[in-house]
Amino acid sequence: MSTNTNAEHILIGVAWPYANADIHQGNVTGSYLPADIYARFHRLKGNHVLMVSGSDSHGTPVTVAAEREGVTITEIFERYHGRFMDVFEGLGLTYDLFTHTDTENHHKVSQDIFTALLDNGYIYRKVTKQMYSAAADRFLPDRYVEGTCPKCGYTGARGDQCDNCNTLFESASELVNPHSATDNSELELRDTEHFFIDLPAIADDGLKEWIMEDKSYWRLQVLNFSRKLIMEEGLIGRAVTRDMNWGISAPVKGYEHKVLYVWFEAVIGYLSASIEWAKNKGTPDAWKAWWYEPARTFYFVGKDNIPFHAIFWPAQLMGTKRLYETDESKLLNLPYDVPANQFMNMEGQKISGSRNWGVWMLDALTRYDPDSLRYYLTAVMPESRDSDWAWQGFVDRNNGELVSNWGNLVNRVLNMTKRYFKGVVPDAGEMGDVDNALLAAIDAGMETVSGLYDGCHFRAATQETLRLSSLVNQYLEQKSPWSTAKTDMAETGRTLYTAIQAISALKVMWSPVIPFSSQKLHELLGEEGQLFGTQQRETYEESARSHVGLTYDGTTAVGAWTRSIIPAGRQLPKPKPLFKRLETAVVDEEMARLKTAGKQQVCK
Ligand code: MF3
Ligand code: ZN
Repeated sequence: MSTNTNAEHILIGVAWPYANADIHQGNVTGSYLPADIYARFHRLKGNHVLMVSGSDSHGTPVTVAAEREGVTITEIFERYHGRFMDVFEGLGLTYDLFTHTDTENHHKVSQDIFTALLDNGYIYRKVTKQMYSAAADRFLPDRYVEGTCPKCGYTGARGDQCDNCNTLFESASELVNPHSATDNSELELRDTEHFFIDLPAIADDGLKEWIMEDKSYWRLQVLNFSRKLIMEEGLIGRAVTRDMNWGISAPVKGYEHKVLYVWFEAVIGYLSASIEWAKNKGTPDAWKAWWYEPARTFYFVGKDNIPFHAIFWPAQLMGTKRLYETDESKLLNLPYDVPANQFMNMEGQKISGSRNWGVWMLDALTRYDPDSLRYYLTAVMPESRDSDWAWQGFVDRNNGELVSNWGNLVNRVLNMTKRYFKGVVPDAGEMGDVDNALLAAIDAGMETVSGLYDGCHFRAATQETLRLSSLVNQYLEQKSPWSTAKTDMAETGRTLYTAIQAISALKVMWSPVIPFSSQKLHELLGEEGQLFGTQQRETYEESARSHVGLTYDGTTAVGAWTRSIIPAGRQLPKPKPLFKRLETAVVDEEMARLKTAGKQQVCK
């Protein structure tokens, strides 16, 4: 483990997937993968990373799925929770803790935050009118209501949000022509009492000030959207309880039959999971280093999640003020950044679970290496605009960039070292200008790439790393060690020595994006230990039942963000290719698979 005396605490919150559908490439490139790249980068930098998330087990998306299948809610959410962990292990997404929201710990922390907001005067009660289905004899959660968006006219708007223009509704009754999403029946408005969070008050008490502070490093869409809502449109009180029987009971006497609104408590998961992580480690106060002390806290989410992470969650944190702390000055850290991504399409169309139009990650992992998937999903990550997954693009990028550029560079250098020097790293002798210039460019590039990763510019970091790999390829062409091998072994050795050092640096730069092949290369360079720690599934007990989560053990990490010198005289292991070339037939196969919608896949 590197010692970094200026080590920062970096909290990485990752969107909590609803436990009602399988994960597709849009989810991965939207939030889970950038979060993992970020975590790995900061671990290499020697920073203290805590990356948490879990399955979102509550809310109507999960109850709807259970009803549709005719199974219990627990069965649905535990099934998908297990499948999420399969995907994350397969893709190497290194959560320090991936838990779920149906733990006693999460219930308690959510209720405590609710109570703190209530005590601080930021939660009030109000009687509202709610859509009631006479046919089903119950209040309909907003998600069960469908209608026309009053703002943009989209006819498929849900009662809580319009997916077309991102407008959030206070009540489903704002929809034009509201009807039941399940049976189309007409709905009537009836009275029901709910708790509301006083967002206008929190806005005046600090949220406005906070959103107007320097946030020049935020993505423009995120910043503009949030500022516009808080400063121009103005926030309104939002209901934070629901009439449902699945969820976290409202911690107020006489209201126990109401549950906390799923979005209100899901975002609290970032905090509760941090607390749970600390508890599981046997250091129950350890979470405080990310929540009360100076730390940078990041939230990796898709664009539909922006209001919840850049506005409501900061408001909740601000309104909670003090939690589990007697020291009045210790306030919960507000988000440092919400580097939300836009959406990814699939072959030019919207990804759709019901039409089976997408790349189901669990399935894709049976045919492709995780690094191929990770690489493509980074190269076309929708950082500033919607992007597209194309199978042709996947094959082209894999073959043209991973295999031909970076993989081939490694192969050539290691194979020539084997051929000309029996696999022993040659002596550099007196380095020439060209050799020194290459290493200087690589070292400078390492700084640039570091800055790009740190600023969450993952596409650019990858492009720059690829450009540096090309630079080493050009260097080889220029110095052509295969020619000098016939006349000048000292010069040949110098070239290969230099190229090996360059590769050693590039390995580090590539590793946040393609950790599996980077670890392979780490070994091919005769380096010891692991670049990163290991993931595990862990079972842990709470009084009511046991849970399974994903954890990460970083104690074995030896990697550091530095060009480690591969010393002359070191015997390298036998070279092996890092990547597999993909047949062009893959494109046709996958397009055929896509069109003959196979097993029923469900997604939101
Ligand atoms: N479950 C939500 C979704 O899939 C995301 C929740 S992120 C959270 O869109 F922070 F609110 F949990
Ligand atoms: Zn709309």
